[in-house]
Amino acid sequence: MMDNIYMDLNFNILKHNVTGKSSKIVVLTDPNTTKYCLPVLKKYLKNVDFLHLEIPVDESTKNIKTIVYIWKLLLENHIDRHGLVINLGGGVLSDTGGFAASTYKRGISYINIPTTLLAMVDASIGGKTGINFLGIKNQIGSIQQPEGIYINPLFLNTLPEEEIKSGRAEMFKHGLIASYDHFQKLLNTSPIPEDGLIIESAQIKNEIIQKDPEENGLRRILNFGHTFGHAIESFLREMGNPVTHGHAVAIGILLESYLSTLYAGLSVKEFEKIQDFILQNYEIPEFDSDNLDNSLIHLMHHDKKNKSGEIRFVLLNKIGSAAYDYVIDKKDIKRVINTFLV
Ligand SMILES: NC(=O)c1ccc[n+]([C@@H]2O[C@H](COP(=O)([O-])OP(=O)(O)OC[C@H]3O[C@@H](n4cnc5c(N)ncnc54)[C@H](O)[C@@H]3O)[C@@H](O)[C@H]2O)c1
Repeated sequence: MMDNIYMDLNFNILKHNVTGKSSKIVVLTDPNTTKYCLPVLKKYLKNVDFLHLEIPVDESTKNIKTIVYIWKLLLENHIDRHGLVINLGGGVLSDTGGFAASTYKRGISYINIPTTLLAMVDASIGGKTGINFLGIKNQIGSIQQPEGIYINPLFLNTLPEEEIKSGRAEMFKHGLIASYDHFQKLLNTSPIPEDGLIIESAQIKNEIIQKDPEENGLRRILNFGHTFGHAIESFLREMGNPVTHGHAVAIGILLESYLSTLYAGLSVKEFEKIQDFILQNYEIPEFDSDNLDNSLIHLMHHDKKNKSGEIRFVLLNKIGSAAYDYVIDKKDIKRVINTFLV
């Protein structure tokens, strides 16, 4: 147990924590988690009374229309201020369900039951919720901590391989920014990491959040790989050639690690270790653009770490240690894009 994060293999802790606590429990799912995960949860929560609502959401509909849809369902089902929302799904569902809950009637409680690897180690933790706006990732949102996060790796048995790889990218990031030991273990783990490694990764994120819940400083290091990663993810989605969030972040990690050698003292030897892992596990996507550097820079200007119009990066000093607020010369941003992506 880490504060309110539980490895809950038979959902006994969840059952204990929710029984008799709220006026009504609503379980939100997306179409896949209705099919693959809800039956598992139902089996364990036999005597818990809850209402199930399916939300037709994926990354392309992680937007205000879906939030309005959820608010409407909550209202029509008479969910009051003492209701509880349980998000049973990946990061898209917990970001959207969490945002809907955090704004409905000025905020009701919610719980995350992550069903993807990425959500187990990252998206379900930290209380950031939100949606995409005008084609740009996570522009509108809130910070409200979930009441609890209940991790059960059983759900990974039905998760497609691409999604496992997506989650591994965020675990890899946790090693790079905060733990050489975690990084090393990930180089040698099986495709689905062992339970202990999943919890270790969740713990790394959680420790950073505990020190800086509102992202006034340190928490920004969790965005390593995401300045390029979010721009790449948004660009490819607009082009009709989407990749998973983690795949985009993995490419972002490669580019930002290279910048780290120029600006933050990462050694070339360590950069090459990172590069080898990324290129062995993730393909460089097809971008099909004559003006990729300017297009990505345009998208990066919307990054939430920026200040006064400058694009700010998190960079590595060495594997296991990161620092934030690096302002990078545009010519180096273009150089790294043109070296690795074109
Ligand atoms: N709030 C945060 O701190 C934070 C952090 C990282 C990422 N995110 C967000 O998370 C999102 C990505 O989350 P994700 O990678 O979990 O993707 P996702 O939620 O889109 O899930 C990936 C796919 O797997 C399906 N799925 C989920 N669980 C399944 C299961 N057990 N078996 C079979 N299929 C299953 C989903 O329906 C979906 O099609 C992005 O929108 C990203 O911005 C948020």
